[in-house]
Amino acid sequence: MRIEEVILKTPAEIEKLRRSNQIVAEVLEVLKARVSPGTSTMELERICEGETRKRGARPAFKGYNGYPYCLCVSVNHEVVHGMPSESKVLREGDIVSIDFGVCCDGYYGDAAVTVPVGETTPEAQRLIDVTLRCLELAIEEARVGNRLYDISHAIQSCAEGAGFSVVRAFVGHGIGRELHEAPQVPNFGSPGKGIVLKEGMVLAIEPMVNAGDSAVKILEDGWTAVTMDGSLSAHFEHSVAITKDGAIVLSKT
Ligand code: MF3
Ligand code: CO
Repeated sequence: MRIEEVILKTPAEIEKLRRSNQIVAEVLEVLKARVSPGTSTMELERICEGETRKRGARPAFKGYNGYPYCLCVSVNHEVVHGMPSESKVLREGDIVSIDFGVCCDGYYGDAAVTVPVGETTPEAQRLIDVTLRCLELAIEEARVGNRLYDISHAIQSCAEGAGFSVVRAFVGHGIGRELHEAPQVPNFGSPGKGIVLKEGMVLAIEPMVNAGDSAVKILEDGWTAVTMDGSLSAHFEHSVAITKDGAIVLSKT
């Protein structure tokens, strides 16, 4: 049996991961500014590809397990892995999750944001705000000596405390010379459990929060995950390095 070991990164490697994640952050900023009623999710894909190549990086998702696009764009009740489409046109009040990764100089970057299209309902906005808060609280737990599920528990308690649920079918992950490395970072768990966090761990922490039930299903396309009950879902992700001086959010602009 292969033991899934957590690969610790040197400061020089963390610098490379920062570069890749900075490109992700910059491209996500460009994309966020292009989210507006009437824009198709395929337009976002095209902009993304151009902005990525311009910065000398390779889109990480394209070709990953056969995934055909640079971006995952998940609208409303879509949770993650929504595929860009010409016919999927954003409308005022939608919420859209944009998930993006690159590889640059052998190291990966990965981050996601959820934004409203124009103005959305107070409840949808609250879902977005709470999911972002889950990520912020999770990052505060990402420090040397804490346990992995301290991160997970922070996400779960924030989401459930707000009356929402966390998705269990998808998890965060280590990131480095691979997009997905050990350990898995669930969005639920018991505080004080899981592996001890060490200097040099780099984690992609990605709360996925549903307004309704936590159950999800995969559509016929084999990728798009949607909430089983049709409720809205939000997703934020940052790649975070754990250092002796605390967490560094590598994918923050
Ligand atoms: N950020 C997501 C993840 O880490 C998306 C990658 S899935 C892909 O799982 F297949 F599209 F690459
Ligand atoms: Co990820």
